[in-house]
Amino acid sequence: MFIDTHAHLNFEAFELDNGQVIERAKIAGVEKIIIPSSNLKTSLKAIEIAEKFEGVFAAVGLHPIHVKDEAFDEENFQKLAKNKKVVAIGEIGLDYYYDKSNLLNQKEVLIKSIKLAQVVSKPIIVHSREAAADILPILMTESPIPSGVMHCFQEDWQFAQAVLEMGFYLSFTGLITFSKNQKTIEVLKETPLERILIETDCPYMTPEPYRGKRNEPTYVIEVAKKIAEIKKIPLEKVETQTTKNAEKLFKI
Ligand code: NI
Repeated sequence: MFIDTHAHLNFEAFELDNGQVIERAKIAGVEKIIIPSSNLKTSLKAIEIAEKFEGVFAAVGLHPIHVKDEAFDEENFQKLAKNKKVVAIGEIGLDYYYDKSNLLNQKEVLIKSIKLAQVVSKPIIVHSREAAADILPILMTESPIPSGVMHCFQEDWQFAQAVLEMGFYLSFTGLITFSKNQKTIEVLKETPLERILIETDCPYMTPEPYRGKRNEPTYVIEVAKKIAEIKKIPLEKVETQTTKNAEKLFKI
């Protein structure tokens, strides 16, 4: 059994067929799926889908690229975060790639989101793009340091080491099947399998050999295959361990 720990089935790309997509994934062996959110609206949608399907879970949160569009509605997010099907707060973090003009606001929302995770005792799903240097001190000054995962990992080994030391997991996407970026592959080689999660980040990041098509949870198996190839270990080992890791972190 595989677990896709990051699938945006709450996005418009899946509006018409999320049920069929989930069905296909289960038949292929992807029996559990976590749907992370980007704002309040997609958080509600993630819960709606999770409540409809067994093995499907939600994460709620305000993504850093959306903090410019809406204020962090603490009261509502807290209500949603307590839902039984919500297994994490996410995705949250910092993104300096799209917009560097609202750093303070991004940091403020990130801190509030971490506090929310602490209140409901759930892990965080963190997005970091060109923001490693700022994210680390925020995570490390929190007490207790939250548990969580750095999703769609693209930073360097130095950053990876620091978050691994904090107890975080690193999650890899289809990016590793097509990226020319050796840095991510090097991080993957160094990271113990016990600390790796797999995800599609669908509808984005479609892995080889499906490039050009809409991504979906079924394809998370391609990510696992690539990890097995890079680490020179059997696919079954990647399957068993990454599933164990996700079940432990998200208590699913
Ligand atoms: Ni995402």
